[in-house]
Amino acid sequence: MGGFLLQSPGRTQRPPLSKTLRGVYRPPPDKSITHRALFFAALAKGTSVIRNPLSTGDCISTLKALQKLGISIKKGRGTWTVTGRGGFQTRPHKPGAVVDCGNSGTTLRLLMGILASRGVPAVLSGDASLKKRPMKRVIEPLRKMGADISARKDDYAPVRIRRGGQIKGITWRMPVASAQVKSALLLAGLAADGETTVIEPSKSRDHTERMMKGMGVPIKISGNTVTIRKGGFKTRPYILRPFNLTVPGDFSSAAFIIAAAAIVPGSKVIVRGVNLNPTRTGFLSVLKEMGAKIRVLNTKTRYFEPVGDLEVSHSNLRSVTVSGSRIPLLIDEIPILAVVASQAGGRTAVSGAGELRVKESDRIKAIVSQLKRMGVRIEEKRDGFIIQGPCVLRGASCDSFGDHRMAMALAVAGLAARGRTAIKGFGCARVSYPGFIKDLKSLSRPL
Ligand code: S3P
Repeated sequence: MGGFLLQSPGRTQRPPLSKTLRGVYRPPPDKSITHRALFFAALAKGTSVIRNPLSTGDCISTLKALQKLGISIKKGRGTWTVTGRGGFQTRPHKPGAVVDCGNSGTTLRLLMGILASRGVPAVLSGDASLKKRPMKRVIEPLRKMGADISARKDDYAPVRIRRGGQIKGITWRMPVASAQVKSALLLAGLAADGETTVIEPSKSRDHTERMMKGMGVPIKISGNTVTIRKGGFKTRPYILRPFNLTVPGDFSSAAFIIAAAAIVPGSKVIVRGVNLNPTRTGFLSVLKEMGAKIRVLNTKTRYFEPVGDLEVSHSNLRSVTVSGSRIPLLIDEIPILAVVASQAGGRTAVSGAGELRVKESDRIKAIVSQLKRMGVRIEEKRDGFIIQGPCVLRGASCDSFGDHRMAMALAVAGLAARGRTAIKGFGCARVSYPGFIKDLKSLSRPL
């Protein structure tokens, strides 16, 4: 069994070698739900309370952006209190203020939907990675709705929003499944005249729809089609009611520990209080298909979201084929799926995942190049990869490419590898999971 060295600029951490993973573990709060809770609370008229928010990287980008836009947010211990004015009608910030969205695509795209539809002037930007990610997919439909919005090369941040007129609802058929695009348009739809309909080619995470339902918004869902109804509001934005919400554990963060328990011999981990929304847990179904020993326990519903516990034990795994409508259900878990597949017997093929090329890094290129370094037989495809397993993982010097999910996937590969793995830029893991190393250490037991 190997270990890994984590290299961040000016700092090197060396966690103890892991032997096997055993114990009970609580994943960090869900990133997608924390973002949405902040946005909806900001849009509501009155004071909302968010318990157990993800208080790090990406969600702090959303929090700071909203504060800059004049929303009052008080950070207490494990609780954020947000006071919205009802749809940003008052515009206390300097018109054209530059709002920094950091590394967070969710912050930038959902804010585009909210601000452009309400004619709140602002410039939205972010770090070098975010500035490379495509925004036209949100700009185009927002323009059709009547928003005044432009961007660098019409596709990239900085994105500029100008005060426009009243926007109208549209029917938009999305070329790729994306919860960020869908959510941006639904949030815009709340301020639009008429009806806004979004049609996805296959279903992406539905936290926005669930939260809207929870807040009493007239929303109709039929298959992959979501419609926001005018519901009595004429020319003014719909006013949302404030709420109290407790954020459940993040399945995408738990996925790294789940994967480690599934591939490190002798492991058995209980994951407590994790979100089990079926539009997020595609990785669980795939792991089960690969022969992983997983039990789902104590499921309940909290604020329209299923939550429960998982028991995951090590077992011998077989290969799997993942494509089509299963991809959006595990879009963020593909780097760690590749690591698991390297330990499974047979040919694993992932296709239809071209979206990975425009995430925090080009994840297809990153997965293939870094796992090759560790001795994995992996072939790059335009929209995925093929792995011939099982492979003996060798410790190597790897690069996270500044991508949090790549950094953690490589750390799990490092755990299962012979020899030491060094991960360049590991610090980026903090955007979604700052306690990752601490959690791994606390679960590590001698074999
Ligand atoms: C997210 C949606 C997904 C996902 C991202 C979070 C969200 O992005 O990759 O980490 O919270 O809506 P896309 O909508 O671009 O697929």
